[in-house]
Amino acid sequence: MDELFDVIVIGGGAIGMTSAWRIAQTGRRVLLLERGQLGGEASSAAAGMLGAQLEVSEPGPFYQLCLESRSLYENFVNELYEITGIDAQLMHNGIFQLAYSETEAQALHERMKWQTAGGANAEWIDSQSVAEQEPVLSGCLGALLLPDDSNVNARLLTRSLGVAVHRTCTVHEGIHVTDIQPLSGGGYTVMTATNSYIGESVVVAAGAWAERLLQPFSTPCTIRPVKGQLLTIRPRHGQRLRRTVFNDHVYLVPKRDGTIVVGATEERDSGFNRDVTIDSLMSLLFAAQRIAPGLHDAVFEQSWTGLRPGSPNGQPWIGEIPEYPGLHVAVGHFRNGILLSPVTGNMVTQSVKGEPWPERWQPFHVILQSEVC
Ligand code: GLY
Repeated sequence: MDELFDVIVIGGGAIGMTSAWRIAQTGRRVLLLERGQLGGEASSAAAGMLGAQLEVSEPGPFYQLCLESRSLYENFVNELYEITGIDAQLMHNGIFQLAYSETEAQALHERMKWQTAGGANAEWIDSQSVAEQEPVLSGCLGALLLPDDSNVNARLLTRSLGVAVHRTCTVHEGIHVTDIQPLSGGGYTVMTATNSYIGESVVVAAGAWAERLLQPFSTPCTIRPVKGQLLTIRPRHGQRLRRTVFNDHVYLVPKRDGTIVVGATEERDSGFNRDVTIDSLMSLLFAAQRIAPGLHDAVFEQSWTGLRPGSPNGQPWIGEIPEYPGLHVAVGHFRNGILLSPVTGNMVTQSVKGEPWPERWQPFHVILQSEVC
């Protein structure tokens, strides 16, 4: 006999786990299926920047979605802490977006203009003040300070989400979903290599692996892995970095344990390859040393890769596929899966409950996104 669930969530990354947890909080019986380990892919590989103002290059719905999710973060991590005892180490440390040429400075002033006009905080800091605030940095012409962008420890966040889903859902790890089949009377059979399960609703949140599962449902949903390589360094001699710093070649994200995450490459032609390569590490380290020469003797700690779920426009596709009632997606979060987890969890939950979305979420509905892309 197939096991029955109200909702089956496929994918145990930050998006899948947040969605499963939030849906379970509505009293539904949720099964979460993960092909590897919970949070074992892009989510725990992430640098954890909550760069709502950093990651978006123009005003509009995507910028608003990022701001909305950032505004949910404090309560999100506090709620997780209360039920799991794991602190995701949210740091309100702000981001310096550094300029090294007049062209870059001008672009950052433009960004400051539209962001402040929209009510966000953004401030130009001259090079001397940057050096005073962050003595390990040197050589920039100035920086745009985004004081409300923050960061979390992505590994701790995914660990706490893992505990939350284990408390509220049935969780199976190491399970490959092979197929999703609509049932004639409504609902879906989710087939795995060893078992099958029936769900009244199914949520596909399978990150870079989503495309294969969605192909039979004729959603022109091209989700491709975009490899990122990252590393961690530990400063010596009492050197430290307070703010996250970012330029076009590299970012440095200081963590509460004193380490700094250095990221990240964006490799579109590597498929599902996870090799850490010398050329990528060298280019990251070279770029890091250029902006932060004060960290030249920092200790190298570790390196790793993550496969971002890349959508054609870098924006997520969320919601119910209209031709397939009960089949929902939450895919394509690309560079912003950690940032967008809280709002995505709310969107998916509302979608599964059959409640209408507010206007501001509509542009990310899977049907509209597939028309845009
Ligand atoms: N959010 C940063 C990155 O994807 O590299």
